[in-house]
Amino acid sequence: MTISAPLVWALFSAMLGIAFAVPYEEYILAPASRTLHPVAVYQDKVNGTVTGADTLAGDSLGSAFFQGVSAVTYDFGKNIGGIVSLTVGNVDRGQYIGLTYTESSLWISGIGSDATANYGMDEPLWFQPTGPGVYTVDRSHERGGFRYLSLVHNTTGDIEVTQVTTHFTAMPHWAEDQLKNYTGYFHCDDELLNRIFYAGAYTDQLCTIDPHYGDALVHLDLADAAANQAPLQTWYSNTTITNGSSALVDGAKRDRLVWPGDMSIAVPAIALSTYDLVTIANSLDSLYLLQNKTTGLLPYAGVPFPLSTWSATYHLYSLIGVADYYLYSGNLTYVADKWDQWKFGLNFSLGFIDSSGLMNVTSPNDWLRFGMGGHNIEANSILYYTINQGISLAQALNDTSVISRWQAYAAGVKSSANNLLWNSTAGMYHDNETTTLMPQDGNSWAIVSNLTETASQRRAISANLAARWTAYGAPAVEAANAVSPFISGFELDAHLLAGNTSAALALMRLEWGFMLDDPRMTNSTFIEGYEDNGVLHYAPYSDDPRISHAHGWATGPTSTLVEYIAGIQILSAGGQTWRVAPKLGDLTTVDAGFSTTLGSFSAQPNATGSGGVDVDFSTPRGTLGTVAVPYPSCAGVLTLKEVNGACGDVTVDVEKDTGSGGDIEIDGLIGGVWQLRFSCSN
Ligand SMILES: *[C@@H]1O[C@H](CO)[C@@H](O)[C@H](O)[C@H]1NC(C)=O
Ligand SMILES: *[C@@H]1O[C@H](CO)[C@@H](O)[C@H](O)[C@H]1NC(C)=O
Ligand SMILES: *[C@@H]1O[C@H](CO)[C@@H](O)[C@H](O)[C@H]1NC(C)=O
Ligand SMILES: *[C@@H]1O[C@H](CO)[C@@H](O)[C@H](O)[C@H]1NC(C)=O
Ligand SMILES: *[C@@H]1O[C@H](CO)[C@@H](O)[C@H](O)[C@H]1NC(C)=O
Ligand SMILES: *[C@@H]1O[C@H](CO)[C@@H](O)[C@H](O)[C@H]1NC(C)=O
Ligand SMILES: *[C@@H]1O[C@H](CO)[C@@H](O)[C@H](O)[C@H]1NC(C)=O
Ligand SMILES: *[C@@H]1O[C@H](CO)[C@@H](O)[C@H](O)[C@H]1NC(C)=O
Ligand SMILES: *[C@@H]1O[C@H](CO)[C@@H](O)[C@H](O)[C@H]1NC(C)=O
Ligand SMILES: *[C@@H]1O[C@H](CO)[C@@H](O)[C@H](O)[C@H]1NC(C)=O
Ligand SMILES: *[C@@H]1O[C@H](CO)[C@@H](O)[C@H](O)[C@H]1NC(C)=O
Ligand SMILES: *[C@@H]1O[C@H](CO)[C@@H](O)[C@H](O)[C@H]1NC(C)=O
Repeated sequence: MTISAPLVWALFSAMLGIAFAVPYEEYILAPASRTLHPVAVYQDKVNGTVTGADTLAGDSLGSAFFQGVSAVTYDFGKNIGGIVSLTVGNVDRGQYIGLTYTESSLWISGIGSDATANYGMDEPLWFQPTGPGVYTVDRSHERGGFRYLSLVHNTTGDIEVTQVTTHFTAMPHWAEDQLKNYTGYFHCDDELLNRIFYAGAYTDQLCTIDPHYGDALVHLDLADAAANQAPLQTWYSNTTITNGSSALVDGAKRDRLVWPGDMSIAVPAIALSTYDLVTIANSLDSLYLLQNKTTGLLPYAGVPFPLSTWSATYHLYSLIGVADYYLYSGNLTYVADKWDQWKFGLNFSLGFIDSSGLMNVTSPNDWLRFGMGGHNIEANSILYYTINQGISLAQALNDTSVISRWQAYAAGVKSSANNLLWNSTAGMYHDNETTTLMPQDGNSWAIVSNLTETASQRRAISANLAARWTAYGAPAVEAANAVSPFISGFELDAHLLAGNTSAALALMRLEWGFMLDDPRMTNSTFIEGYEDNGVLHYAPYSDDPRISHAHGWATGPTSTLVEYIAGIQILSAGGQTWRVAPKLGDLTTVDAGFSTTLGSFSAQPNATGSGGVDVDFSTPRGTLGTVAVPYPSCAGVLTLKEVNGACGDVTVDVEKDTGSGGDIEIDGLIGGVWQLRFSCSN
């Protein structure tokens, strides 16, 4: 028999599939199948008489008899999203059975679901079963995020339910047995951080939806003044929001819309966990389709959000999105196709730079913070960052027409911001020159964007931000002390760039630990925002049930843990150049990695006691990079060798750190398998 080439390849790939099992798969929260059943009756309680309610927990058929007015709440064990079906057995005439959903246990109710509008709750969904059979919610009422599902029987008479099923609809473009097929992984000797990495990755999966089922925004007009409206609101997930077969949205339950600000945190997390690049491209494309052809303005949010509302910062985030997509994909064709629109978009922003050298923000809209306007430090830091991203993209495309002009703008923004907005007594930037408010967003972004001029500025900002923390996280003073898991994601990176690893790890444990372990949370996904005293009220919203408990903008640690703690950083074009610079803080062992179109990247830093460190790392052939480790607390010998490679070993005598901080850095490394060893002399 002749084995044809495709068959040989199929056998070979099957073997590869076995050889390369997904590392740490046991931590992945994505389900193994799209068919989900409740895991328990919430608190083992029923309202009224429901005999056998517990038989519907688990995968096998059961029999729960609802007798008279009665209700039961099922717990799916973690936040999920999808289309619910009830399998009904015996049923009397004229029975109604309704469904209410909630992400948080706070909003379990027989009256309505947690909210998608900004007033009241969402109306329940009712079935009126006329006989045995499977009753399925219409697709326009798919619920993108819920952990608790209540079955509410409001009539006299009996109805038997034999199964409750949710068809999981997130990640629509992945096969159902592939939902755990992550390319990225992170593991260390702190279980909380491991859970945080995987909850972030799963949150972003729940925020990846079928683009035909975005929010219809039927009550966008409902604001605080809506107190005279009916407390139960209609809701529909039936708007097509992008082309293609998947879309990245801000939140699983709400808004189910493409928001470029949210993407700035979610995209790196996705790239380093599921590497779901097609979803990122679909979502960015949907924003660029809405660019204003006269001005170059990109939208605040995707369809069907009104174009009349715009944001200086979210406009820039759409530009950053293309730079991020290129960084992780290496797809220069994508950038080239968007380049004219990109330059048009950046020019729109540059047009707001006035004689002060700074951009004057004339729209109040941002991430729902207050007081956005004028020569704002956050907006100008994001602009500075975006211009520098643009210079890198222009260099990749050999477009020399813009580079010197953009460099001049960037230098002007940087020096003016430091002249006008830096307060050296306080050790932080002011929000703008007419206030002494020193915001979390602008101070974090000043470090992330490298708008700061000195390491001492970075250390001061890091220490001052950390000094503000409450028992629940990092407050955003620019939003009535709300805790913003979005802005806190930038604060994490700011601490690391300031050399303050212990602050970054402490903030992850404090804020993301609270978001996982508090019983009002889902123990699986990260919330949109809350008060700095731990109350689940988010300053911009009047309606607490509206808060999203699966928000991609809260997934910052997923990329931070890989890029800064394991320290594997992609510097250009899908990893053509890279830097491995682990920062273990108080951790002793870390094992992380991911893949790009160029191949696999991994690093296993280990503290070896009394100041020593080992780092095994591996990067694809044909790439180039640098390794760096923090200056040690003892004198000793560092060796670096390429395993089975042609490069000679490097041995360096290293002095003890005298308190200056900084890294020992070795550059010019070719992609391959490397071992770095540092041990103290005695
Ligand atoms: C069950 O009753 C409790 C106590 O009255 C109530 O808080 C809860 O919302 C009810 N649950 C449902 C699903 O009706
Ligand atoms: C049960 O709920 C349905 C749907 O809202 C409603 O039409 C019906 O009147 C209710 N029945 C009772 C007895 O409240
Ligand atoms: C998992 O995904 C990778 C990358 O997308 C793919 O190459 C691989 O075939 C998938 N694994 C399996 C077992 O199908
Ligand atoms: C969504 O569904 C509602 C109710 O059926 C309908 O009125 C509305 O037109 C639909 N919207 C879209 C965009 O299809
Ligand atoms: C584009 O911007 C111009 C100028 O602000 C405005 O008049 C026009 O309505 C915008 N176009 C769209 C499609 O929003
Ligand atoms: C790269 O981008 C181009 C242009 O958007 C797209 O057609 C192509 O599919 C992308 N390549 C990959 C490998 O995704
Ligand atoms: C300057 O910042 C303060 C504090 O955020 C804010 O209240 C004020 O409106 C800002 N000024 C402008 C012009 O936006
Ligand atoms: C920013 O522009 C607005 C609108 O043109 C103007 O009223 C305001 O004075 C400017 N702010 C500053 C700080 O120049
Ligand atoms: C840019 O120029 C370099 C050097 O001439 C060349 O190798 C590269 O292909 C060019 N890239 C593009 C996108 O034109
Ligand atoms: C700088 O901050 C301090 C508080 O730390 C404040 O007293 C001082 O007024 C600020 N300086 C300026 C120029 O606003
Ligand atoms: C940050 O800016 C300084 C100048 O203030 C520059 O020397 C340094 O190279 C920049 N760092 C990065 C990573 O671009
Ligand atoms: C939270 O989830 C983890 C798995 O990620 C599980 O081990 C733990 O028991 C859960 N905690 C609670 C209180 O359910």
